[in-house]
Amino acid sequence: MLHIILILIISLIIIKFFFLCKSPSLSNLQGKNVIITGASTGIGEEMAYICAKNGANIVIASRRKTLLDKVASKCKNISPNQPIKVITCDLKHEKDCEKLINLSIEFFNEINDKPEIDMLILNHAMTLFEHMDFNNPKLMVEKLRDITMSNLIGFATLSHLTIPYMISDSNQKEFKSIIVLSSLMSTISLGMSWAYSTSKAAINSYFTSLNEELEYQELQNQIKITLCHLGSINTITMRSHTDKYFPKLLVDYMVLNVEVTAKSILQSGLNGQKELWYPSYGILLRYAYGIFPGIMRKIGFWIQKYLIKN
Ligand SMILES: NC(=O)c1ccc[n+]([C@@H]2O[C@H](COP(=O)([O-])OP(=O)(O)OC[C@H]3O[C@@H](n4cnc5c(N)ncnc54)[C@H](OP(=O)(O)O)[C@@H]3O)[C@@H](O)[C@H]2O)c1
Repeated sequence: MLHIILILIISLIIIKFFFLCKSPSLSNLQGKNVIITGASTGIGEEMAYICAKNGANIVIASRRKTLLDKVASKCKNISPNQPIKVITCDLKHEKDCEKLINLSIEFFNEINDKPEIDMLILNHAMTLFEHMDFNNPKLMVEKLRDITMSNLIGFATLSHLTIPYMISDSNQKEFKSIIVLSSLMSTISLGMSWAYSTSKAAINSYFTSLNEELEYQELQNQIKITLCHLGSINTITMRSHTDKYFPKLLVDYMVLNVEVTAKSILQSGLNGQKELWYPSYGILLRYAYGIFPGIMRKIGFWIQKYLIKN
């Protein structure tokens, strides 16, 4: 058993080293037309700053205009000549997804005469960590519907609206990329993460199928999908949930830096990587759940029962 684990760890280090060597520079963002959803806070906000710094034309979207305006003005401070557009939208509604893509295309066409999307970053998410309330089935279904509409249907709708703007008739040299933010919580499904984990697990299946479909339709050289499986990243939203339930010392020890994470995500998208596991040892959890599902579920249950503060 021990040597299997050792082989897995060594393979991961080799893969990681291989990708690090190949990592393209973030300056490859220069002149690219990029849309970032959920850019008012957290990882999305950080990606907006990196894109601005590296010369991308950016559209940032989310529901809260005041926060988006603050992010936009910070981007302007970082890179005064870089075009940026704020679009307020609630991406659980199909109409708002259409509005985001239509206004983005108008904007890109205006600034560089190029009605194309080079990079779509599907980052927005509604998050929920709470136990199920069996006395309130209607409310439970409503919450699940809201999260699914935003996190899954919103992602799917945006990717479908975007793909036509990523396909070109000419012999396109560079590929376009769709970056999808998923979570290790799609693998470690705790009872209290029921709605969030469901949406993230569905995203994994959906975008894996979409990837296959792009290959089937011979579009794999034009569009690359990067599915990012993230662990605990030090954002306000994540801390607002974890600090409530887990010992602070443990959370402080486990969380990863937002800026470094945002850079890794953008780099893996520029690289056309199919998957990013961040941290890279997160992939071991997937193997562990595949090989010892019973034991892993028991561990998850114990964590929920004895570690989480109720
Ligand atoms: N942080 C972590 O530890 C972690 C771990 C694994 C995966 N992830 C994933 O990484 C992504 C970013 O996480 P984060 O921690 O940076 O989250 P965050 O700070 O809460 O950011 C989420 C963003 O999504 C926007 N949003 C939420 N619902 C929306 C909707 N219906 N329509 C439009 N915008 C919406 C929010 O802005 P408004 O409220 O203004 O709309 C916010 O800008 C998420 O997909 C998350 O699931 C994060």
